[in-house]
Amino acid sequence: MILDGKRIADRRLEVLEEEIEESGFYPHLATVIVGDDPASRLYVTMKHKACERVGIGSVGVNLPGDTTPQQVREAILQLNEDPLIDGILLQLPLPRQIETDRVMEAVAPEKDVDGFHPSNLGQLFSGKPTFVPCTPKGIMTLLEEYRIPLSGSQAVVVGRSIEVGRPCGMLLLAADATVTLCHSRTKRLEEHTQRADILVCSVGKARFITAEMVREGATVIDVGINYVDGKLCGDVDYAPVAEKAGAITPVPGGVGPMTIASLMENTFRAARMRACAPAR
Ligand SMILES: NC(=O)c1ccc[n+]([C@@H]2O[C@H](COP(=O)([O-])OP(=O)(O)OC[C@H]3O[C@@H](n4cnc5c(N)ncnc54)[C@H](OP(=O)(O)O)[C@@H]3O)[C@@H](O)[C@H]2O)c1
Repeated sequence: MILDGKRIADRRLEVLEEEIEESGFYPHLATVIVGDDPASRLYVTMKHKACERVGIGSVGVNLPGDTTPQQVREAILQLNEDPLIDGILLQLPLPRQIETDRVMEAVAPEKDVDGFHPSNLGQLFSGKPTFVPCTPKGIMTLLEEYRIPLSGSQAVVVGRSIEVGRPCGMLLLAADATVTLCHSRTKRLEEHTQRADILVCSVGKARFITAEMVREGATVIDVGINYVDGKLCGDVDYAPVAEKAGAITPVPGGVGPMTIASLMENTFRAARMRACAPAR
C-alpha cells in the first residue's frame, strides 16, 4: 500500500479551508528566512502558496545570510508583538553563526506553530502537546488516516533530530507503540530496523534503508529529501523496499505534503487559541 501523502494532505487542506471560512478568522503566518539557500526558499514559497489556498494570510521576512543572532531575535520579537501575526515559522537550517536553539527560544510559545520552543517540546514530552512539530504531526496523521495499528507495535525511528526523530518517537510512544530511537552511534542498526512494525527514517542519506533492513509487511515512513544526479529521492531504497513493505510513503508525495498541511492546521489552531486568550 502506498501511503499517499499528497492525496491526504489535499483532502485535509480542503477541510481546513472550509473550517477557516466558517470560523470568520483570517489567520496570519509569518515566515522568517535567513540567507539565500535555494531549498529553504523553495520550501517557504510552498508554505506561502498553501496559506493562500486555505485562506491564511502570510508575510515573509527575508534576512541576509550575515545577519547576527541578535538581529534574528529582534525580528522574531517584533513578530511576537505584532497583533496581526498568529504563527511564526523560522525556516531551518540557519546559517552557522546562529545558534538555532537560542533563536527558537525567542519565538512566543503561543505563536510557535513549528512546535520547537522548549515549552512546546516539554508539553509534547509530557504527553500533552499544544503545538506538535509539523513533520512528525504529518506522519502521525498519515498513519491514522490509513488506520495503521500503532498500539503494541514495535516502532523504530532512525534519526534523532529535534525537527523529526525525537518528537516522532514521543508521538509514537503516546500512541502506545514500543519505541526505539536510533542514531549515528547505534550499533548493528539493521537488528533494530528488522524488528520494526513501523520504521521511520529521517537521516538525510539517499537510499540508506535497504530491503534487507526491513521486516516483511512493515510500514515504512521515508522522511528524507536527497538529490542524486539532480533527482529527488528519500532515505529509503524505494523499489526493493516497497516490494517487501506492507505500506510505504513515496518521495516525493509522502511526508512532504503532510508537513505543509500540518503547518496550516497549527496556524489555524494558533489563531483560534489567541482569539480565546485574555489580552496581554
Ligand atoms: N519531508 C519533510 O517534510 C522533511 C522535514 C524535515 C526533514 N526532512 C529531511 O529529512 C532528512 C533528515 O533530517 P533531520 O532534520 O531529521 O535530521 P538531521 O538533523 O539531518 O540529522 C540526521 C540524523 O540521522 C542520524 N544519522 C546519521 N547517520 C546515521 C547512520 N549511519 N545511522 C543511523 N543514524 C544516522 C543522525 O544521528 P546523530 O544524531 O548521532 O548525528 C541524526 O540524528 C533530511 O534529508 C531532511 O531534508 C524532510
